[in-house]
Amino acid sequence: MKLAIGSDHAGYELKKTVYSWLESNGHEVEDMGTYSNDSVDYPDYARKVAESVASGQSDQGVLLCGTGVGVSIVANKVRGIRAALAFNPEIASLARQHNNANVLCFPARYSDPGAIEKSLENWFAAEFEGGRHERRVAKIEP
Ligand code: RB5
Repeated sequence: MKLAIGSDHAGYELKKTVYSWLESNGHEVEDMGTYSNDSVDYPDYARKVAESVASGQSDQGVLLCGTGVGVSIVANKVRGIRAALAFNPEIASLARQHNNANVLCFPARYSDPGAIEKSLENWFAAEFEGGRHERRVAKIEP
């Protein structure tokens, strides 16, 4: 799968770990920054990842910031993006099954690599259930 990944400074260290894990699991991953621990503004990176997914350049997106909240707010402003804050692996499964999330966001300051990898595994393995969820997802875009 073609993936875009991004973070602010708070997610930078964990992003490197997640990037390597995704690549070693066979994904083609584009790292859209940030590229150091220097303080930056999360909207700049969240928007890049969201636009890459919305345009079809990437199939799915992964975002990290301190809480995951900032990046999820920004990504959800981009038309066609359904970004979910995956604060545990079960939420990650449900974000696909019920919401067909196309961007997964993580709270870097409250997560460990194992939980993020399990969440990503669940998200990739899960399938959108359609049916009543299809109707609800269709009502999201204004
Ligand atoms: C950065 O300190 C922090 O505010 C940011 O990473 C994020 O948590 C915002 O939602």
